[in-house]
Amino acid sequence: MAFRTLDGLAVRGRRVLLRADLNVPMQDGKVSDPTRLERLCPTIRELAEKGAKVIVLSHFDRPKGRRVPSMSLRPVAEALSGVLGRPVAFAEDCIGAPAETAVAAMREGDVLVLENTRFHPGEEQNDAAFADALARLGDLYVNDAFSAAHRAHASTEALARRLPAYAGRLMQAELEALERALGAPARPLAAIVGGAKVSTKLDLLGNLVERVNLLVIGGAMANTFLAARGIAVGRSLQEPDLHATARGIEAKAKAAGCEILLPIDAVVAHEFRAHAPTETVPVGAVPAEAMILDLGPLTCAAILDRLAECRTLVWNGPLGAFETPPFDTATVRVARGVAGLTRAGRLLSVAGGGDTVAALRQAGVTEDLSYVSAAGGAFLEWLEGKTLPGVAALAA
Ligand code: 3PG
Ligand code: MG
Repeated sequence: MAFRTLDGLAVRGRRVLLRADLNVPMQDGKVSDPTRLERLCPTIRELAEKGAKVIVLSHFDRPKGRRVPSMSLRPVAEALSGVLGRPVAFAEDCIGAPAETAVAAMREGDVLVLENTRFHPGEEQNDAAFADALARLGDLYVNDAFSAAHRAHASTEALARRLPAYAGRLMQAELEALERALGAPARPLAAIVGGAKVSTKLDLLGNLVERVNLLVIGGAMANTFLAARGIAVGRSLQEPDLHATARGIEAKAKAAGCEILLPIDAVVAHEFRAHAPTETVPVGAVPAEAMILDLGPLTCAAILDRLAECRTLVWNGPLGAFETPPFDTATVRVARGVAGLTRAGRLLSVAGGGDTVAALRQAGVTEDLSYVSAAGGAFLEWLEGKTLPGVAALAA
C-alpha cells in the first residue's frame, strides 16, 4: 500500500495532530516499559525541529468513554518529556476549550499531549462529530500508532479522512518491515507461532499456512496439534475441542505445500512452578501424569537447522512457558539462534506481540533481530492478513 511519509513535508508553524500510542505499561504510577515512548521520539523530534506545533493524541487503557482519573495521560506526558529531553505541555481534555486554549498558546517546535481520547465515547464509536472536534485542533494529521491501527476509532480512522494524512517514522518503519517479511519476502519464508491457545490464533495459522514455506508450532498450542495426531500429551494444557480444527489446518498446509514442524521432544514436569524437577522425553513418551512445559533440545536443534535454510522469518508467541524458569530455555535458545542467523546476514527476522517481545528481551536479543514490532493486537491482525483500518485510512 502506498502512503505519504514525512519526507519533504513542510510543517513550519503548522499544527500537526500526531496520533501516537502512549498506551504504555505502568506500575505504581510510573511507566514500567518506555519502549513505545522511545520509538515515538524520532517523529516528534523531526516535526519539532522543522518548526511544527506537535499535538500528541492517544488513548490510554480502556476507560470506556468516561473520565477515569487513574487513566489520565498526565503521568505519561511527564515520562515522555523525560525520554524526549524537551518540555511537554499537557491539556486536560482532547477537545473543546481546554484543548483549544492549549493549542492556541503553542509556538513553533512546542510539544503538547492531550488527555486520553477514550474519555469520550465518540473515540471508540469512530464518531463524526468527535472527529470534527479533533480535526479543528490541527492542520495536518500524522499517524505513528501502528500498534493501535487495528482499531477503527476516531483518532485512528475518521480523523485521517478529515486532514491531509501522513505516516510518521515509526508507522513507516513498521509497515516497511512487515512488507519485507510477508508482502514480498525472500524465500524460503518461515513462521514461528507459539503461545498457549490454538483458539486465539486460528485466523493467524489459517493465513500463514497459505503464505509460508515452513510453519513451526510451539508453546502449549503445539500440544493440541500433537493430541490431534493421536499422540498422548499427559496432563498438558491443550484444547480437545480443537482437534478437528488442528487436523484441518494440517490438511490446508499440506495442500498449500507448507511444512509444519511440530515438537519431537519435550521438557515435562509434574508440577507447573519455577524450578520444578523436569525430565526431557520424546513426544511419544510423555508420562500420563506429566505436563509438557517447553520444547526439548532436539526440537530446538531441528528448528534452527531448518531456519538456517530460510531467508525470512516472522515470529509470534513463545515456545514454552517462558515466564517460569527453566521453561524459557527453548524460547531463549531459538531466539539466540535467530539472532545469530540475522547478524550473519542470512535471515531477515521480524517478531512482534507483547509476550514475544518480553521473551526476546529475556533472551537479550531485541537489538539483533531485523525488526521487533512494539505492537500486540495490530501485529497479530496484520499476520492474519487483515486490513488495519488505521493503515487503510493513510492510503495515498
Ligand atoms: C495496545 O496496547 O495493544 C494498543 O494500544 C491497543 O490497545 P487496546 O487493545 O486497548 O485497543
Ligand atoms: Mg492492550
